[in-house]
Amino acid sequence: MGIDTQRTVAEIALEKPQAAAIFEKLGIDYCCGGRKPLATVCEAAGIDVNRVADLIETPAGADLSGGESKDWTNQSLAALVSHIVQKHHAYCREEGLRLRPLLAKVVSKHGERHPELAEIQKLFACLQDELSMHMMKEEKMLFPYIVDLEEAATRHSAPPQSAFGTVQNPVRMMILEHDNAGNLEKEIRSLARNFTAPEDACTSFKVLYQGLEAFEADLHLHIHLENNLLFPRAIALEETAQSV
Ligand SMILES: [Fe+2]
Ligand SMILES: [Fe+2]
Repeated sequence: MGIDTQRTVAEIALEKPQAAAIFEKLGIDYCCGGRKPLATVCEAAGIDVNRVADLIETPAGADLSGGESKDWTNQSLAALVSHIVQKHHAYCREEGLRLRPLLAKVVSKHGERHPELAEIQKLFACLQDELSMHMMKEEKMLFPYIVDLEEAATRHSAPPQSAFGTVQNPVRMMILEHDNAGNLEKEIRSLARNFTAPEDACTSFKVLYQGLEAFEADLHLHIHLENNLLFPRAIALEETAQSV
């Protein structure tokens, strides 16, 4: 069955996990701005929507998924939380540790001829610092609450107590922080001219741009799983528990 192109980009990315990689390649925002119909987004970007739909449905499209082909819509929230922390939070921290010294090295070698590198370095440091705080809040406060909420629902017991009232409060804050991270990534991409290394770039420079682009792609997938799946399911679960 073909893709319903009137469905939102986020819905399609959840239903067909390989679609996320295709959207990423085509520059279609499926995480922070994913709540628009695919047909509308493609029309605005001048992309043939039928070509996108065909690509998602072909085996070649599935090969683009980069291993992230699991359908998380029918997994427990505890499993999804564990996946987000072990895969995306760990990657974000590890790549931050690798890319920051690499950025410093490339700035020191090429910063004079390419002043945009110093700007990228500042923005990436800011992004990393904000993400560190953000992930800590998720891991220490929000995610444990979501796991407890699911456990309570399984036992048909009352929802757990929290210091933040409803789960909608921290979720609202996390979504704002995701938007901010997405905007920093857009600025970095623009300064790096879509991560196109210049003619005179050395290997470190090229490796840096590849790393920054992969970092951005992983962050999009990470935010997509939280904004479009984990958070709405947690809100729905809390509402159901409160109505019992
Ligand atoms: Fe996260
Ligand atoms: Fe997050």
